[in-house]
Amino acid sequence: ARLVVLVSGSGSNLQALLDAAADPAYGAEIVAVGADRADILGLARAEKAGVPTFVVKVADFADRAAWDRALADAVAAYTPDLVVSAGFMKILGPEFLRRYDERTLNTHPALLPSFPGAHGVRDALAYGAKVTGCTVHFVDAGVDTGPIVAQGVVAVEPDDDADGGEALHERIKTVERSLLVDIVGRLAREGYRIEARKVRFGS
Ligand code: GRF
Repeated sequence: ARLVVLVSGSGSNLQALLDAAADPAYGAEIVAVGADRADILGLARAEKAGVPTFVVKVADFADRAAWDRALADAVAAYTPDLVVSAGFMKILGPEFLRRYDERTLNTHPALLPSFPGAHGVRDALAYGAKVTGCTVHFVDAGVDTGPIVAQGVVAVEPDDDADGGEALHERIKTVERSLLVDIVGRLAREGYRIEARKVRFGS
């Protein structure tokens, strides 16, 4: 399967996918990495791996809809089977989702439907949750509301408050990377279908 990965930051999830995809048996090939800003570690990781990159900045377009269309066009140039939003901090718009409906995955650092949005780790901590984790899901029009493929659980420790959730996020990311690698590989190798929000592997 052909994969385009979208990133906005450090790209450690991307790195895990790049490492996995180095083995042809993985079943997915990263054909391009896209970002909404330049000069981020995620893009450097892609370049180092010899994977083509592109940047589509919101500020370069008249409005959000034009940006959304340009992003979809940039992705489409690589004819992916799957798109993975891995720490991509923008909401994908209607045109993008129309073209990549049921083919775009996102990874979120909380157990959805709890704590959606940009601050999943901090919000779980502030709420006093005793367990949190990560969710790999397909993207729909809502914020972190699409069909769930898999989740990983991480315990909240009493001193996680001390650093505002940084250490907790690191523990979540360790689980998140292996979950994402596992799920993307399975979707690519086994195929899948989505019926009434349930994601089933196999063709
Ligand atoms: C991940 O925890 C992702 O779920 C969240 O931001 C983090 C991105 O990390 N939205 P990285 O860029 O893959 O290192």
